[in-house]
Amino acid sequence: MPLANKPAEAARPAARSSAGRVRHLAIIMDGNGRWAERRGLPRVEGHRAGIEALRRVVEAAPGLGIEVLTVYAFSTENWRRPKAEVDALMGLLVEFLHAETPALKAQGVRIQAIGDLAGLPPQPRAALAWAMAETREQKRLVLNLALNYGGRSEIVRAARKLAREVAAGRLDPEAIDEDRFAAALDTAGLPEPDLLIRASGEERLSNFLLWQCAYTEFWLTSTLWPDFDRSDLEMALDAYANRQRRYGGLG
Ligand code: IPE
Ligand code: IPE
Ligand code: MG
Repeated sequence: MPLANKPAEAARPAARSSAGRVRHLAIIMDGNGRWAERRGLPRVEGHRAGIEALRRVVEAAPGLGIEVLTVYAFSTENWRRPKAEVDALMGLLVEFLHAETPALKAQGVRIQAIGDLAGLPPQPRAALAWAMAETREQKRLVLNLALNYGGRSEIVRAARKLAREVAAGRLDPEAIDEDRFAAALDTAGLPEPDLLIRASGEERLSNFLLWQCAYTEFWLTSTLWPDFDRSDLEMALDAYANRQRRYGGLG
């Protein structure tokens, strides 16, 4: 009987390769305002508590195998908020960079940024330039701050950059492929995010990493960002490890 001659292995289900380690984690740090409102506090206190949550995640990340951590800190749409909140956010950013850069450097963290940085006010821009220069040699973790960041804005800026190269006669339009385009984005040189976490229960991308998240796995939690801790992070990474990434193929 031919069936009896089948190798034993064929009867077993094929080993499912798990997604494994997250090299690049992206986080939409959402829910700061609601966290504060629930406590009867001003929204800015939620942003302050959000910085503490970020500190916890940055400390835990390298030990969990993460090499790049991209966090959505201020979107191109967040300018629509009242001026007082925008000013408070910019102030907290400056405070964070001045206060935390030495400790981050000591932990081997390299600070980088994506977004339309020229559109930031002078103070945060200067603090960022200083923090990036100060930590440029660090190799344990890239902390990539998305500031005045919008996925659409980034794609338009990349298109403009390539168009300028074409207009100057330095680039053949036919040479523009996906790799070339990706290299013109703010995230040039970084791997694409393996996992995207959004806190606060919202289930949308809100203009974050539109190009880069084409095949990123999502993990959504109702936990408000200021309450997010190491156990939430471990839960997300465990869920990721059991995913099967197929990229349109059959896995
Ligand atoms: C995320 O928290 C931080 C920023 C957008 C800067 P929110 O401020 O959006 O908090 P909620 O969504 O209002 O609770
Ligand atoms: C996304 O959160 C931006 C950041 C976390 C910085 P928002 O709170 O601005 O997003 P929407 O408005 O709820 O989509
Ligand atoms: Mg929000």
